[in-house]
Amino acid sequence: MTFIEGTPTQKNPNKFGFSFTYPYLCKKYKNKYMKEIVLSGIRPTGNLHLGNYYGAVQNFVKMQEDYNCYYFIADWHSLTSHPKPEDIQQSARTILAEYLACGIDPEKSTIYIQSDVPDTIELYLYLNMNCYLGELERVTTFKEKARKQPDNVNAGLLTYPTLMAADILQHRAAKVPVGKDQEQNMEMARKCARRFNNIYGVEFFPEPQNFYFGDHAIKIPGLDGSGKMGKSEGNCIYLYEDAKSIEKKVKRAVTDSGPTEPNQQKPEVIQNLFTLMEIASSKDTYDYFNEKWNDMSIRYGDMKKQLAEDIVKTLAPIRERILEYKSNQELLDKVAKMGAEKAHESAAATLREVRKIIGFKVY
Ligand code: ADP
Ligand code: TRP
Repeated sequence: MTFIEGTPTQKNPNKFGFSFTYPYLCKKYKNKYMKEIVLSGIRPTGNLHLGNYYGAVQNFVKMQEDYNCYYFIADWHSLTSHPKPEDIQQSARTILAEYLACGIDPEKSTIYIQSDVPDTIELYLYLNMNCYLGELERVTTFKEKARKQPDNVNAGLLTYPTLMAADILQHRAAKVPVGKDQEQNMEMARKCARRFNNIYGVEFFPEPQNFYFGDHAIKIPGLDGSGKMGKSEGNCIYLYEDAKSIEKKVKRAVTDSGPTEPNQQKPEVIQNLFTLMEIASSKDTYDYFNEKWNDMSIRYGDMKKQLAEDIVKTLAPIRERILEYKSNQELLDKVAKMGAEKAHESAAATLREVRKIIGFKVY
């Protein structure tokens, strides 16, 4: 096993020969080296919605206290569908403003735009050398995209999971908070890490794990009766929406004619409403309507009114901050620049080691 210099961990002492377990370790080093690294990103393909918030961004915010977090905007990933040049910058800045509005703090986390950190591309190239056509073709998201856009099955689409692996591994991240739909991509990222380590006989990349609070990933349902709230499903409640528009959308949620016997199992469309209520409302509110369902006295109109009220309560301050941040381009540019510098520093350190491991001369 070759000893590789790099971020010291408890397992691998640093080059000075001491491991970072001493109690007198100063806070600065403790923060920098002892905290586990977290990374996640979202493609700038529209505004953030409740699914993104509860499934991903809320966790990003919670994790920034205890981890060394990198949160980025995956604008290279969105190139697979060829966005217009005039939209590229604005779409990224929209997500940036929404990240900040949700509570991601640039002083605590590194927030950056993917295309501002070209180091990623170098790692993407190396990782691509160890990924095989057959396994990339078997990734479900690739197969789905290929089916949906048969005229544009480009190589970027095929190697999407390798770019995602490069995003994660360039910071040697251990935990990745993403929704259930990303599990296969995460499996490819682990494969990339494992393969690299095996090929070169090193223990350099950690195998990144999907992370969620609780024992399973949350899936926010659509209110149109469909399984998932999503941009391409066209059934989203967006974080920027005002009370009126949220109330209208919740009011339109698909329901049925009501329970026909006590304690009946809920059909999917009703379960969807309850799932949303479980996440957006208090436990007392959820229990109250659940009891009403069980004793068959439920009135969907009342439930929807309450649900809308609770969603509006959560989103109102976020909405206000979105508007503020979106109108402050100078601040957004400053945050992006600061994030790019920090992310580059971390990625460049990894790439330096990667080049050495692969056998290139490092100056
Ligand atoms: P969309 O499906 O709307 O295009 P993205 O694919 O950009 O959303 O997802 C960005 C992040 O938000 C991912 O981590 C994804 O798992 C999460 N996410 C998206 N929709 C939902 C949802 N309905 N429930 C839970 N998490 C979601
Ligand atoms: N594939 C993710 C999505 O579609 C976005 C993404 C790109 C990502 N690179 C990542 C998420 C790295 C987590 C880690 O939502």
